[in-house]
Amino acid sequence: MAVQWYPGHMKKASDEIREALKRVDVVIEIIDARIPISSSNPMLKELKGSKPCVRVLNKKDLADPEVTARWILAMEKEVNVRAVAIEALKKKEVDKVKSIAISLAPDELKRGVRALVVGIPNVGKSTFINTLAGRKVAKTGDEPAVTKQQQHVRIEGGRKGFDISDTPGVLWPNLADRKGGIRLGATGAVRDTALDYLEVAPQAAVDLLTHYRDLVVERYKLKGESEEGMDILAEIGKKRGCLRKGGIVDLHKAAEIVCREIKAGDLGRISLDWPEDYEIESNTDSD
Ligand code: G4P
Repeated sequence: MAVQWYPGHMKKASDEIREALKRVDVVIEIIDARIPISSSNPMLKELKGSKPCVRVLNKKDLADPEVTARWILAMEKEVNVRAVAIEALKKKEVDKVKSIAISLAPDELKRGVRALVVGIPNVGKSTFINTLAGRKVAKTGDEPAVTKQQQHVRIEGGRKGFDISDTPGVLWPNLADRKGGIRLGATGAVRDTALDYLEVAPQAAVDLLTHYRDLVVERYKLKGESEEGMDILAEIGKKRGCLRKGGIVDLHKAAEIVCREIKAGDLGRISLDWPEDYEIESNTDSD
């Protein structure tokens, strides 16, 4: 993965988030419903502490609904956390997040509820804010080295109004985690130029064949006999005519096709993080 998140950027982002958190009542954390863990920021849980949080599994239209439902159950085991799956372009669904956020804020507030929208790049934060505001709110740069102007938006509604601000710095996912990096790559969360297709596609193909065997076998007309990533890729390459001189399969081309089709949702609704693969820390009442 070519994307780098330097320690300096990490420190700056965490300081900014810590400051911003002091001024808000609720955190709205946007994650990608297909990869709720891989698309989350590893520092956020610690930074937000016990501040109420709505975990928004966005892009639910692309994710496996059954897996999403299990994620919601798993996440809501955590105290002060509510989880909801949405499509950020749908006003009704975005408004539901607003209602949940307001319900989590302390009752005694004399002013409107203040919420901080956080999330890694490309999960749909701007889309969410625009839909909530009912207008296009300018988007600022997502480059780690660029100073980002934090946005504050007043939303009408709720008894005393609802104020949201977006992530002050740029929050990155855990790119040091290879499994997460591959899933971010496969879903297109990391820009194409930062991808090594040949690193991403074979593992994604194995994961998909394990969890969505019928979808993958049907789409690529596979015999379903290969279990190893490069072998699956070679079979896909042959079927799709990705051949070089001498009939050698062009694995890079095949990998590109697989990544592009996963990102476009051509295989149907799929998830690439599954709750049973992760130990979900649940700081529940019994802790
Ligand atoms: P960000 O502010 O967190 O960086 O994300 P942003 O809103 O810009 O959204 C990133 C991409 O995700 C956009 O596509 C946007 O349309 C898409 N998106 C946001 N919410 C949803 C959703 O609920 N469902 C689906 N299917 N897509 C959603 P884009 O501009 O075409 O970018 P890209 O896909 O080329 O990266």
